[in-house]
Amino acid sequence: MKLVILTTFLIGFQLVFGQRLSIFRTSDSIRTCKPHEPLPIDESKDLLACQRELGANTNVKDPEADKSIGQISVENGYLFESYNVTTTDGYILTTFRISGGEKSPARRGKPAILLLHGLGSSSEAWIALPNDKNLAYMLADAGWDVWLGNNRGSTFSSGHTSLNANRDLRYWDFSFHEMGIYDLPAVVDQVRDVSGHDKIFLIGHSQGGTSYLIGVSEVPELNDKIHAAYLMAPAAFLGGAYDPFFGAFLPIVNTPIQDLLYAVTRGRIQRKNPRILSTVFGIQGHEFCQPRSLRCGLCDTYLLGLYSFNPTQMNYTNIPRVVSKQFNIDNLKSDIHFGQNILSCMFRKYDYGSRENLRRYGAVDPPEYNLGQIRTPLHLLWTEQDALVTPTDIRRLVSRLPPSALRGVFRVGDDTYDHADFSVARDANVVIYKPLIQMMNEFWNNVSLTPANTTS
Ligand SMILES: *[C@@H]1O[C@H](CO)[C@@H](O)[C@H](O)[C@H]1NC(C)=O
Ligand SMILES: *[C@@H]1O[C@H](CO)[C@@H](O)[C@H](O)[C@H]1NC(C)=O
Ligand SMILES: *[C@@H]1O[C@H](CO)[C@@H](O)[C@H](O)[C@H]1NC(C)=O
Repeated sequence: MKLVILTTFLIGFQLVFGQRLSIFRTSDSIRTCKPHEPLPIDESKDLLACQRELGANTNVKDPEADKSIGQISVENGYLFESYNVTTTDGYILTTFRISGGEKSPARRGKPAILLLHGLGSSSEAWIALPNDKNLAYMLADAGWDVWLGNNRGSTFSSGHTSLNANRDLRYWDFSFHEMGIYDLPAVVDQVRDVSGHDKIFLIGHSQGGTSYLIGVSEVPELNDKIHAAYLMAPAAFLGGAYDPFFGAFLPIVNTPIQDLLYAVTRGRIQRKNPRILSTVFGIQGHEFCQPRSLRCGLCDTYLLGLYSFNPTQMNYTNIPRVVSKQFNIDNLKSDIHFGQNILSCMFRKYDYGSRENLRRYGAVDPPEYNLGQIRTPLHLLWTEQDALVTPTDIRRLVSRLPPSALRGVFRVGDDTYDHADFSVARDANVVIYKPLIQMMNEFWNNVSLTPANTTS
């Protein structure tokens, strides 16, 4: 426990002061590619904006901040269901479904869409923004049958046929690779069965996009089960990453300290766990980010910095809800696997070290994912200031995808958007979701005679 606190503290310290002091800075020699150099943006007004906003909203507390996605959905008139499926390697996954609401009642034949969240989150990340602005409810209102995946290891999908997530370290022996080859096929088939559609749509953010790309590369028949995929900042090529979390983490990747950290954390990091905060600072996690508490820097930088967001696009009043919805459990092997791909500047399978690689892959180095296998129409969305999936790495990805599958590459219109802003930026509904839903409606209208938009 002490080591966990120490590690968290070091990472937090690095986040707050690292850039200035350059401690733990990765030596460039161990990175194959140079970090991307972002265009400069002016963030000097952040602190003032934060203080002004908190001053105006001192007593505003979002009553939904601590409620679950099921509760919030039902209280707002949405039909909310929960489905379990067991993967071929024994993981029991829970997928949520919002098949309708007041604006678009449930009916058979609505196009089905599966949403895959990012690292260290859960499906609740799709409702981090207020109800009229988040992607899950906007899609439901626009006539889509919305399915929300929960990664193995997240609090909603922690079951297993024989392993106990709390006791068995073996449960945590997976990265986004297994999410792609086991979880995605199981969940996609379940959505097809229940919705009655042969093919479904898919949206993935960050690691959700990673596991999708792995799934359609490694499991060829998946390509025939998906109409089209829309990936927001998919974390495939990462050689240009410069985000503070991985900046602090990279120096231990592929070193003995990595194995020590794995043993100490028992394979996962509880991003949601308020115990660490209460032990270190004497207050609870959710109190920490209430308007009254010490804010504008400490809470915001320390907590949300893990996800890399743009402060100028943050509604500070909304932070308690964002923190509560965006944070879940991080499986360490995914962090390490991402770290390896940052170092190698390639999109490769997990690196077990040369001896084990030889046994598993028949080669000293792990093989690259074969993106040439992808046949399903694919759309990429990227942002200029993304510190994890940088514009340079989007170019690398684009150059490897089959041109016949790649249907569109969209740069988000706001120059200041960062990685997590796809789910937390206050204007994401206007800047990203509206045009995205319109694009998907068009695609659906092309493949079906039934219009997707049933709101009239
Ligand atoms: C789904 O699985 C979880 C355990 O992983 C269990 O608690 C829950 O009751 C199951 N739900 C259904 C509908 O079977
Ligand atoms: C921030 O969120 C609060 C609470 O949801 C809302 O009242 C306010 O209008 C929002 N501010 C902006 C600038 O979006
Ligand atoms: C829909 O079909 C038209 C005509 O074939 C095409 O021009 C358009 O690009 C298609 N739209 C989408 C979103 O696939």
